[in-house]
Amino acid sequence: MRKTSIITVILLMASLVARADEGMWLPSLISQRIADMQEKGFRLEAEDIYSINQASLKDAVVLFGRGCTGELISPEGLLLTNHHCGYSQIQQHSSVEHDYLKDGFWAMSREEELPNKGLTVSFLERMEDVTDQILRGYDPAMSEAERAELVKKNSQAVIEEATKEGKGLRATVEALYYGNQYFLFLYRQYEDVRLVGAPPSSIGKFGGDTDNWMWPRHTGDFSMFRIYADKENNPAPYSEDNVPYRPKKYFKISLKGVQEGDFTFIYGFPGRTQEYIHSEGVRYIEETGDPHKIHLRTLRLDIMNRHQAQSQKVRIQYSSKNANVSNAWKKWQGEVKGIRKMKTVQTKQEFEKAFDRWAKGGEFDGVVGKIAKIYEELEPYQFATDYYAETVRTVELANFAMSMARLFVKAEDGTVTFDKAKADELASTFYKDWYLPIDKESFIAVMNEYEKNVPAEFKPAYYKDKLAAYGSINAWAEDMFTNSLFADPEKVGSLTETDREAVMSDPATGFFNEFLKWYAADIQPVTARLNQELQLAYRDYMRGQMVYCRTQRVMKDFYPDANLTLRVAYGHIKGYSPADGVYYTPSSTMKGIMEKDNPEIFDYNIPQRLRDIYATKDYGRWADATGEVPVCFIATNHTTGGNSGSPVINADGDLIGLNFDRVWEGTMSDIVFDPDICRNISLDVRYVLFTIDKIGEADYLLEEMTFTE
Ligand code: ARG
Ligand code: ASP
Repeated sequence: MRKTSIITVILLMASLVARADEGMWLPSLISQRIADMQEKGFRLEAEDIYSINQASLKDAVVLFGRGCTGELISPEGLLLTNHHCGYSQIQQHSSVEHDYLKDGFWAMSREEELPNKGLTVSFLERMEDVTDQILRGYDPAMSEAERAELVKKNSQAVIEEATKEGKGLRATVEALYYGNQYFLFLYRQYEDVRLVGAPPSSIGKFGGDTDNWMWPRHTGDFSMFRIYADKENNPAPYSEDNVPYRPKKYFKISLKGVQEGDFTFIYGFPGRTQEYIHSEGVRYIEETGDPHKIHLRTLRLDIMNRHQAQSQKVRIQYSSKNANVSNAWKKWQGEVKGIRKMKTVQTKQEFEKAFDRWAKGGEFDGVVGKIAKIYEELEPYQFATDYYAETVRTVELANFAMSMARLFVKAEDGTVTFDKAKADELASTFYKDWYLPIDKESFIAVMNEYEKNVPAEFKPAYYKDKLAAYGSINAWAEDMFTNSLFADPEKVGSLTETDREAVMSDPATGFFNEFLKWYAADIQPVTARLNQELQLAYRDYMRGQMVYCRTQRVMKDFYPDANLTLRVAYGHIKGYSPADGVYYTPSSTMKGIMEKDNPEIFDYNIPQRLRDIYATKDYGRWADATGEVPVCFIATNHTTGGNSGSPVINADGDLIGLNFDRVWEGTMSDIVFDPDICRNISLDVRYVLFTIDKIGEADYLLEEMTFTE
């Protein structure tokens, strides 16, 4: 039997198992889950979720930009996503005169909607199992590199064929289950997407990084866009002649509200999970990778926070940088805690032992041990890579120096050209948000950790020589941040093509470049080779896990790891207990915003208008049965990064919310899902509507929406 059919057969059998709300399911195979969904309350059919014959819910969901989800909420191309997903667009349109981040933005007519260069949205036209085509010509005697070459070649042919007809078609072929299966994803991509509205950050980012990954939550994390198309409704570059896109399907909005236990369904683009990895992979993350990365980021965040607290200017300069550093920092803490609590390493070891016993003498004999061996070899290289990424690569001055150095091009005859215009642009962006004391103190902090924790044989000779010459990291920092020409905007402003030598020998450029050369020569080739070996072994182990669980009657369902393709996750509204003696209820209201409100604390300083509305209880039609305006809710849907902006759908297929986060205690769900703790956090759609209506006073937008009650 071919491998394709084995996977299909296993999946069909596995679908008989019903269990907790874990899983990110492929929409085209949702008929295998629909009975379970219906049992849990869903009232629609598989064809309503995904169909290539009729309009279905998938036609109302888009991949927004490069890593978020959005959904259509009107017949005129109106789209809803998160504030943090539209953040860079909102920021790009902001200036001192029009600070849309701070004050919010509402187009009061179609003419006022703002175009966005580079922003695209993609609709999934269809998806299809193309394993046979992709592996045509495959011979088990092939090396992994040869196989990869073949897969690439065959994928190109499949993509070309699929995108032949129709405007704006874009296709990808994605490996599922470590390359046991390949799927074609055909998208229609629109590139005229205009900003329609965003609440002020004091609503859209309420709670900031303090509340990020936390429950109870009160963030109004949404923004609105409109998709434009040519007169035939096809994708077209921005043009004044374009008209609002007419979707095949858009979500109707339910105002009924949510109750604990209600069925919820998330439709979106989760980015990356690793649910089937070997215990050794988990052990590295839990014991080594995450703890070191967390520690390095704690050092940097302490430095940033201290300086940001001292100066309003620095606070603004580092707000986005701080958010980026702290987002994963907080996530990893929950991940480690969750993996420990779940005893994932131990559980996996036990599974592997039983698997190994079962596998003796068969196709999967030895694969568990093989993976362990590869991890053993990989670990020091992975550690060196993690340190390189979280130390050397975080030095802002060195990054800037290197990107400037790249603007000097030396031709074969020795003549040098220098892109002055690009250099000026880079320099103005860099200096606007750079504060030397933060960068320098961070350099000292992280490089001292580097010195202490990275074994000598995983450090470049350049580093060891320099450190010996300087005598200490401090002295190194002193030289670099005092003598680098890049520390001086004036010197950078007067650079010309004759300065190539000075730029290349600059201490900041040297630091970046020498480490980069070492990484490319000594580390990357080894990790690339080992990861390829790992990939190959995992392909067998993945298939082995499926066969084992099926034949040994281990109750386990399989769903492919997330890879930024469209998925369905279903579950229900539910509170949780993060610690002994504590229980969190599943929804929050405006009352909680008022409890947090504090004009002295940046993250909790709400617009005066919101206070006034609360005082007069002028909620319009947006209050719930208790008279409060609902804000957020949590549920058991299995989501990850990329699911931000995903529609939250009720049992009737109507929109009840907008997914934007998870609770930090449950972020190990990228590796192991705990139904007791893992919760996704969503914005209640009624708070979105309240904000549009009462804060934005853009209630004309409500007229194009359809409400179910
Ligand atoms: N934690 C959410 C996610 O991973 C939201 C991040 C944006 N918000 C923030 N305060 N940094 O994307
Ligand atoms: N906040 C994440 C995102 O932006 C979602 C998550 O990790 O749960 O996609």
